Amino acid sequence: MNLETSKPQTPYEALGGREVIERIVNRFYDLVDQEPQYSELRQMHAADLGPMRHSLAGWLTAWAGGPKDWFDENPGKCMMSAHRGLGVSKQTASQWAEAMARAIDESGPIEPKLANAMSARLHLMAHAMVAE
Ligand code: HEM
Repeated sequence: MNLETSKPQTPYEALGGREVIERIVNRFYDLVDQEPQYSELRQMHAADLGPMRHSLAGWLTAWAGGPKDWFDENPGKCMMSAHRGLGVSKQTASQWAEAMARAIDESGPIEPKLANAMSARLHLMAHAMVAE
């Protein structure tokens, strides 16, 4: 048996690598920027979404098991702590998770089980950011 080829795929590899991550992130911020139902979430962000497109793509890449450059660029940064002071509400967390699930669904093809697992975990994370 060739151990090299039998190595389990990371979610990053299974979904199509950096190209697909960038498609997801660009679709996500286009939705947030353009669709009125996400306007509350949009207003929480800076006018220029360019730096966010770069940062979220880097974070998702590392999170999904791809290259860890984001963590080298942001040493010691924790996403949960970084969002603590932002005043995330149930509504804006739902907007974030819904726009992300749509972006994942529209940026594939990604195997449906993997797409659903990603959306479900990001949904849980977004709601864990809700300020008490
Ligand atoms: C799984 C959930 C989430 C992930 C993975 C995530 C990811 C990120 C990343 C990577 C950054 C950039 C940090 C940096 O480069 O310094 C960021 C910033 C930010 N996030 Fe999130 N986020 C999530 C949920 C949310 C939610 C639920 C909200 C609001 C309701 C939110 C609002 C913001 C805002 C306002 C910023 C700062 C943007 C700016 O400076 O313009 N995020 N997030």
